[in-house]
Amino acid sequence: MNPRRESVATDRGSGTSAATGEANKQYKQGDSLMQLKDKVIIITGGGQGLGRAMAEYLSCRGAKLALVDLNPEKLDQAVSACQANGVEARAYVCNVADEAQVEGMVQQVAADFGAIHGLINNAGILRDGMLLKVRDGVIEKLPLAQWQAVLDVNLTGPFLCTREVAAKMIELKCAGAIVNISSVSRAGNMGQSNYSAAKAGVASLTVVWAKELARHGIRVGAIAPGFIGTEMVASMKPEALERMTSAIPLRRLGQPEEIAQAAAFIFESDYFTGRVLELDGGIRL
Ligand SMILES: NC(=O)c1ccc[n+]([C@@H]2O[C@H](COP(=O)([O-])OP(=O)(O)OC[C@H]3O[C@@H](n4cnc5c(N)ncnc54)[C@H](O)[C@@H]3O)[C@@H](O)[C@H]2O)c1
Repeated sequence: MNPRRESVATDRGSGTSAATGEANKQYKQGDSLMQLKDKVIIITGGGQGLGRAMAEYLSCRGAKLALVDLNPEKLDQAVSACQANGVEARAYVCNVADEAQVEGMVQQVAADFGAIHGLINNAGILRDGMLLKVRDGVIEKLPLAQWQAVLDVNLTGPFLCTREVAAKMIELKCAGAIVNISSVSRAGNMGQSNYSAAKAGVASLTVVWAKELARHGIRVGAIAPGFIGTEMVASMKPEALERMTSAIPLRRLGQPEEIAQAAAFIFESDYFTGRVLELDGGIRL
């Protein structure tokens, strides 16, 4: 039991009003607060970067992990790291943008673990490019394939995974939470038509799904990270990275563990739904 929650319950125990008494009754039902121990959480893009960091963090809190990725070698390494923390963890090679693969993956996770309590829609890609570039009077256009590739993984992926996982949670009578990984870029970042649109879409869907799934005991939250020190950011040009860091009020990249901590907060906070946590060191695009 989270010590902070215990103290909240105790503090409220001294209240005398009807409303406080009602709240107190709920807090005393400690089982209704979502605990991570033994909960089954699916993390897409769990092979590296933020996905792996969240997997390791949640495994330290006793969660059982189903890690999903395209890269089997990285998946195996991430699974071993979670198992080293004493929890059950399994690897699932699956493209989150492929409907049949997502359906199969969710069926398999349910068969392997017997329950699903959570999902982190984390798998994502970058294919940056300006809408138009004019070079020597010649107009270059952002190719449709470059737009579509990012929309497929970063927006259709969360749609398919959430639809299948939520259906399975309802079928198995598992309450829980879904966490979408959006981005500071959802506000509209130059050179990121595809990525900004997908990440804004994911933030919006967080509200839609929170409203629709609340009746089934499923909460939906999102995290909008700023610039976090992972492989994805490391692949940026050094001068762009330097420019970016100097614009962050906290003057540093975020750490993957700081995002993992926010994911744990969403899972554990039973009154949190339909909102986006912004972890960006204060930067505004
Ligand atoms: N790193 C940052 O600064 C940052 C900032 C804001 C948002 N984000 C978001 O956080 C998430 C994770 O970012 P990261 O930096 O860890 O990225 P990353 O590239 O290090 O890891 C992404 C993982 O997703 C997997 N993946 C890619 N396409 C997939 C697909 N179709 N199906 C299944 N798996 C797939 C990759 O194999 C990889 O393991 C992404 O959604 C990203 O947009 C990252």
